[in-house]
Amino acid sequence: MPVDRILERGIVIVDGIEVVRSVTIDAGIIEGIYEPGSEPPASERISCEGLYILPGVIDIHVHMRDLEQDDKEEFSTGTMAAAAGGVTTVVDMPNSVPPTITHKDLEEKIAIATEKRYVNVGFYAGIPSKIRHVEERLIPQILGFKVYPHTPLTEGTHYTKERLRECMKLSAEYGIPLLFHPASAEIDAKPKTHDDFFQLHSCENEVESLKQFLEIKAEFYESRLHVCHVSCGTTARILLEHRAEDTLTAEVTPHHLFLTGGEFSHDDGRAKMLPPLRSPYDNEALLQGLSSTCGIDCVVSDHAPHETFEKRLPFRDAESGIPGLETLLPLMLTAVFEDKISWLDYLRVCSSGPARILGITGKGVIAKGYDADITVVSRENWEIRGRDFHSKAKITPFEGQNVKARPVITIVGGEVVYSYGGFFADPGVVGRVPLRRLR
Ligand code: DOR
Ligand code: ZN
Ligand code: ZN
Repeated sequence: MPVDRILERGIVIVDGIEVVRSVTIDAGIIEGIYEPGSEPPASERISCEGLYILPGVIDIHVHMRDLEQDDKEEFSTGTMAAAAGGVTTVVDMPNSVPPTITHKDLEEKIAIATEKRYVNVGFYAGIPSKIRHVEERLIPQILGFKVYPHTPLTEGTHYTKERLRECMKLSAEYGIPLLFHPASAEIDAKPKTHDDFFQLHSCENEVESLKQFLEIKAEFYESRLHVCHVSCGTTARILLEHRAEDTLTAEVTPHHLFLTGGEFSHDDGRAKMLPPLRSPYDNEALLQGLSSTCGIDCVVSDHAPHETFEKRLPFRDAESGIPGLETLLPLMLTAVFEDKISWLDYLRVCSSGPARILGITGKGVIAKGYDADITVVSRENWEIRGRDFHSKAKITPFEGQNVKARPVITIVGGEVVYSYGGFFADPGVVGRVPLRRLR
């Protein structure tokens, strides 16, 4: 019996080295990796000569919006952006409108995502104001709980030390990751000036918040803490000092790696996001944390779409957040091709690392028996243009930036979803809800 599909004679990374191999897919799974000439017969052949065959990116921090914010993004447009960006799995944050807190909220979100998705979509939930109201049946369906110290998801979820302790205990009891956005818990009012914004969201506050969490975490060794979008060099250093196996993990975004606040004028809302862009010193420290010291485990887009009119405002009034699904892979592979990141680090931070952090099994590696979630990439020069995004959000601080890699074919569960600008699967046909390995 021929296998379903063969990706023929592409460049595969084996032990950090580029080698020419063919990858076969059968029943949605990677069937094998073959030296050219030794492949089994296949029903469909896709020539990958000169192209890279890589595991699809697993982006564990995206805001898919939809529901009452479907003008900003829907599961369809958001996951089309993912597929076009070489991202085969996204994990959606719970700060939607309405927020995802109860089992019912989640079921409703899953139903919409299932109808509209083009890639795998997993979910996080927020924690109800009374911890005892956490529904046990929700826990196996989510990949983690998200904690926002600066913007409570609902009434009464302000993060006092006592509440943090209860959240950490919850994580320890169920072995479920707690994702947190380090920020001062006092922040709520809209800052009036550009300088106020930066003072409120300073590195000092990021560090203080992290230290507070780490102190409480120490009381619950078994808890799993994942630190979202580390933006300051000092934060990366503290993380490295506190790492204990996989119970403390962290992520960084491409914008905090490759952009600095000084590049944008004070009036410009395009580059407004939380946490804000920092200094060249921070860029360098984060890149080091990601590559050589391993203080940081993964790269995420923090895809946070807003409407154009909400971003084309003076900095003070603009919404925080930028689209990132279509720029993550090109930017990270540009760093690989410019020798700033090794192949092994790229594969770890973009695919296998995120799967490991959340306990997602069978994804994130090109190897026999793994899910066939694959991106085929062309090494070519092109310029980032927001208007070409599949996301509804078109305003990017990377506008006009030259990159050296382009995802050309995206395969999810063995099916070709995206190929050279076109979509080849109907919404809802491919993808599933990835789940955690339960202990
Ligand atoms: O810039 C941001 N936008 N940071 C966040 O933490 C939330 C996000 C959003 O949902 O828009
Ligand atoms: Zn955040
Ligand atoms: Zn976010």
